[in-house]
Amino acid sequence: MKILVTGGAGFIGSNFVHYLLRTYPHYKIVNLDYLTYAGNLENLQDIEEHPHYRFVRGSIYDKKTVDALLSGEKELFHTDLAPIDIIINFAAESHVDRSIADPERFIKTNITGTQVLLEGARKHQIKQFIQVSSDVVYGSLKTAEGAFTEETPLDPNSPYSASKAAADMLVRAYHQTYGLHTNITRCSNNYGPYQFPEKLIPLVITNALSYLPVLIYGDGFHVRDWLHVEDHCLAIDLVMHKGVPGEIYNIGANNEWTNIELVKTLLQLVDRDESLLEYVKDRLKHDRRYAIDSSKIQKELGFIPVHSFEKGISNTVSWYRSNEEWWQRAKSGEFRNYYQRQYGQILPNQFH
Ligand code: NAD
Ligand code: DAU
Repeated sequence: MKILVTGGAGFIGSNFVHYLLRTYPHYKIVNLDYLTYAGNLENLQDIEEHPHYRFVRGSIYDKKTVDALLSGEKELFHTDLAPIDIIINFAAESHVDRSIADPERFIKTNITGTQVLLEGARKHQIKQFIQVSSDVVYGSLKTAEGAFTEETPLDPNSPYSASKAAADMLVRAYHQTYGLHTNITRCSNNYGPYQFPEKLIPLVITNALSYLPVLIYGDGFHVRDWLHVEDHCLAIDLVMHKGVPGEIYNIGANNEWTNIELVKTLLQLVDRDESLLEYVKDRLKHDRRYAIDSSKIQKELGFIPVHSFEKGISNTVSWYRSNEEWWQRAKSGEFRNYYQRQYGQILPNQFH
């Protein structure tokens, strides 16, 4: 089995590449990543020489690269990467705040990029296409009860959410129109090692470790439903092996926290007091509550999350404590230096 993982140098993608090589040592993996500010090959340093792993730097919205890769153009990649059996699309601009500040890249990567991959999958008769989507496409739950099911209408609020919803619609269309075997997964908020310190959990941990302010948007009573990244990987594994063509699967672990409750827990774990807390202006059109009903994937594919939040979050704090150089480099935009050292090429500024 040969799998094209896109965005494999990011948070979830790099955890997934490790997961796959550990769980299925005979599978072959090609990782196509553009290495934006969020992509870091250091995350994959330990498997760089693995005979079943290959990295290709390129963008999912670059038709030429995608087509060449799926056609197996030997001259370009010095080896035949084709035939690919499955495409799993993790590549995305993934941060809501950045999408509010500057939506354009979200359209290019998340929408155009997904369409370019879908077209490649159609043309090269790829057996399965998995779109790693998000619960943000459902918008915001209005009450404290209930959760998003796969039937909840799409109601995206941020440019990021809208771009993910648009991509989901394209995936659906390629299944309906061309009969491509597609699956869409919609997961809740992930946490764990290698998450870029712009998202709530790693930002709070690393700021608190540095005695920097920890910002709470609005009143702090927004709710998120947290899942360990390894459980997300497990769920995608199940979809890869048992997903029914055209089906959508929600992924979550019934683990809701208000932001303020979660941040206070993190401050305790890091040994800092609440004087670091600073309430700031709310995010524009800030979604109030996300909660995922994952009973479909549990019943139909046998998904059971294995990580308890208590242990998972304390291990995550320990990971950031032990990997200060990694997150200091992330914060100062120095991920690119690793690529330059290893591959002898300079990444242009636009990739920050
Ligand atoms: P991330 O920002 O950490 O990583 C994204 C990766 O995609 C990076 O390696 C980046 O270099 C790469 N990339 C960006 N643009 C690209 C392009 N044009 N071509 C090729 N590669 C490109 O994101 P993440 O948190 O790991 O999220 C991965 C996927 O999971 C995304 O699709 C996201 O929407 C989805 N998701 C994330 C969460 C979460 O909580 N983080 C939850 C649900 C779904
Ligand atoms: O639900 C899945 C989504 O979760 C993914 O699709 C996105 O890629 C991922 O970024 C995440 O989106 P959120 O907007 O929920 O994540 P973020 O970590 O940015 O914020 C979590 C909550 O914390 C949110 O209510 C905003 C709030 N927040 C965030 C930051 C960075 C703060 O109060 N302060 C902060 O400094």
